[in-house]
Amino acid sequence: MRILVIGSGGREHALLTGLKADPTVTDLHIAPGSPAHAKQATVHPEYSQVDDPARMVELAVDIAADLVVIGPEVPLVKGVADALRERGIAVFGPSASAAQIEGSKAFAKDVMAAAGVRTARAEQLAPGTNDADIEAALDRFGPHFVVKDDGLAGGKGVVVTESRDAARAHVDAVHAAGNPVLLESFLDGPEVSLFCLVDGETVVPLLPAQDHKRAYDNDEGPNTGGMGAYTPLPWLPADGTQRIVDEVCVPVAKEMVKRGTPYTGLLYAGLAWGKEGPAVVEFNCRFGDPETQAVLALLKSPLGEVLNATATGRLASLAPLEWEEGYAVTVVLAAEGYPASPRKGDPITSPDLDDPTRVLHAGTTTGEGGYVSNGGRVLNVLGRGATLADARAAAYEVLDGIKLEGSFFRKDIALPAEKGQISI
Ligand code: GLY
Repeated sequence: MRILVIGSGGREHALLTGLKADPTVTDLHIAPGSPAHAKQATVHPEYSQVDDPARMVELAVDIAADLVVIGPEVPLVKGVADALRERGIAVFGPSASAAQIEGSKAFAKDVMAAAGVRTARAEQLAPGTNDADIEAALDRFGPHFVVKDDGLAGGKGVVVTESRDAARAHVDAVHAAGNPVLLESFLDGPEVSLFCLVDGETVVPLLPAQDHKRAYDNDEGPNTGGMGAYTPLPWLPADGTQRIVDEVCVPVAKEMVKRGTPYTGLLYAGLAWGKEGPAVVEFNCRFGDPETQAVLALLKSPLGEVLNATATGRLASLAPLEWEEGYAVTVVLAAEGYPASPRKGDPITSPDLDDPTRVLHAGTTTGEGGYVSNGGRVLNVLGRGATLADARAAAYEVLDGIKLEGSFFRKDIALPAEKGQISI
């Protein structure tokens, strides 16, 4: 099977690593990819317009891809999956209409209301909303404000704050960018990221994971795309994953079918586990980043077959997924200045840079002497172990050997779970 992966970050590096290990995958390509990905796949840097359906179809046809796996949300929302399907090419990823579950938070709220899924109370403020109406809306929320960019922000457009001034400033910034704002009530409880393979009404969950979104230890600092993650969750009740599937993912999948926009691909449910059980914080229409790096590190089933079965309507007959015992942890090495203004172009050294079982490349390129930083989240370091403590130790040992001037990472990824401090 010849597979084309679309994207260029750590999530796509994890996908390549999983696909490479599947003996049925004979040929791997990535567009645009990065130099580190060339160890596992043919990279196509000239196809950097990943949200241009015509360009992506051109490449998939040119290499005679049997399956295209779309990593980021923007190409999905822009209809790349639709264009590929029109050409008869199998695609792992939803149509543009179904990808609205991430593309429009108001759409997602509407689907959840119809499906009876628990979620935060929300109000949308369109650009141009007058000052008095914005202030009145803020009065109806708080003291914990959740202010979201109701467009595509790659998980980065959310401000959660107890400062009304900061909440108002984010409303104004999102409006200045021409996007609507979604104000939400704050959902209490530990967060869970559950990724489900979805093919119409068939839903198959992967292992549950937890992301750490704040930039600094002890959940301080600005929100980021994610600074590290671990899987599975020792504190989740034994029936936790099944409850999320039954109470959230299946009702949403059925509602999407009912609307004539069946979902296919990866449905990412971001949840808070409160007193009444799981409630949805957000949906994404693609694999999460960096949770995928940890989750796929434990997948034993052949990834190419799993994604292909989903893409070709055979998910219901796929053998049950098999997983390694134990835990996986991923820690993000971020560039100085991340998330506001990451510094780029600094050399990176480590003995593990070309070992994708230990280091996945999220934002690197090559310079004269080797790899250099080329993004905010630069590397995703992986650790596995029989216990969460072992997995953490393995990841932090790899980090000890990495040098990148000015870089930083959180030292407490998975630590509250290891210490048994998370309860629901
Ligand atoms: N880990 C957050 C995201 O993928 O959006």
